[in-house]
Amino acid sequence: MQDLDSLEREALSRIAAAGDEAALEAARVELLGKKGSISDALKTLGAMSPDDRKTKGPIINGMRDRVTAALAERKSALGDAALEAKLKGERVDVTLSVRPEMQGRIHPVTQILDEATAIFADMGFAIAEGPDIETDDNNFTKLNIPPEHPARQMHDTFYMKPKPDGTRHLLRTHTSPVQVRTMLTQKPPIRIIVPGRVYRLDSDQTHTPMFHQIEGLVIDESSHMGHLKWILEEFCRALFEIPKVEMRFRPSHFPFTEPSAEVDIRCDRSGGEVKLGQGNDWLEILGCGMVHPKVIEMCGHDPAKYQGFAWGMGLDRLAMLKYGAPDLRAFFDADLRWLKHYGFAALDVPSLAGGLSR
Ligand code: DAH
Repeated sequence: MQDLDSLEREALSRIAAAGDEAALEAARVELLGKKGSISDALKTLGAMSPDDRKTKGPIINGMRDRVTAALAERKSALGDAALEAKLKGERVDVTLSVRPEMQGRIHPVTQILDEATAIFADMGFAIAEGPDIETDDNNFTKLNIPPEHPARQMHDTFYMKPKPDGTRHLLRTHTSPVQVRTMLTQKPPIRIIVPGRVYRLDSDQTHTPMFHQIEGLVIDESSHMGHLKWILEEFCRALFEIPKVEMRFRPSHFPFTEPSAEVDIRCDRSGGEVKLGQGNDWLEILGCGMVHPKVIEMCGHDPAKYQGFAWGMGLDRLAMLKYGAPDLRAFFDADLRWLKHYGFAALDVPSLAGGLSR
């Protein structure tokens, strides 16, 4: 048998030389396993005389304890090193930007809506919403457009199948039915804006079958056309962020307002883009007027006491004007190249203080 000193020295250097956890386990088996060299030494104790065992026992057991301790120590050192190496490999620099280039863009319609909302919220308007599928009554009749009224034809309405009782739902042709819904459920003073999708059977460079409007409604005891004009002028001034936006108020007619007006904005559409504040073209962006007394009455309020004004504005048209997009149909083509060109960075939230769009 090998002498105990050299056996221990050899064992400890094997342990120290084990480069990873697998090599260390192999060493453990060779030393302390069933047929291991240390185990063999321990086995010799059984055949010894009691006196020999008394002197050799502590020596051999001491050696086994030191080898066992050395194994444990090496194991924990190798474990730490392995963990360290793994962490180094998986290291993430959190100060780097998430992606070299952000892929997602905010659609111009969403952007213009956020901008318009920021401006009207600052003026004290609340947001109201209604469903895309409306009743004929809310979309037309309660807005003073009775059945057979010629204005119904002008709306190119998408109708649902008639119900057994003859009434039929439709895709709302404007956001104005939310005026009705609001007046039927709220007491003046009312100051709301209503953003939403509307639908008409129409398609060309400035019309799509689905588009977006933002409606406004103010009902109280004293608001008048002068307030309306100030609000719309102030809105355009804030929205377009240029020194001069030329607006044109044209007398017009809507069944639900009296008097009524339409507003156009001066622009140039001669090149491939729409340019604001120059040129000889006018783009109609909204209809407005004093809410018709009959509408106030049909919605449950006393027109002798309450009055107010309303408007309905084409949001997509505003986006075309502000961002210079010439064709409305492209807004809804879902073409990523278009979105990359006309879209906005997701983290630039419009605000009056921080700027609407950059
Ligand atoms: N609803 C009208 C349309 O879509 C726009 C409109 C005109 C809304 C006058 C109004 C208004 O609230 O007062 O053509």
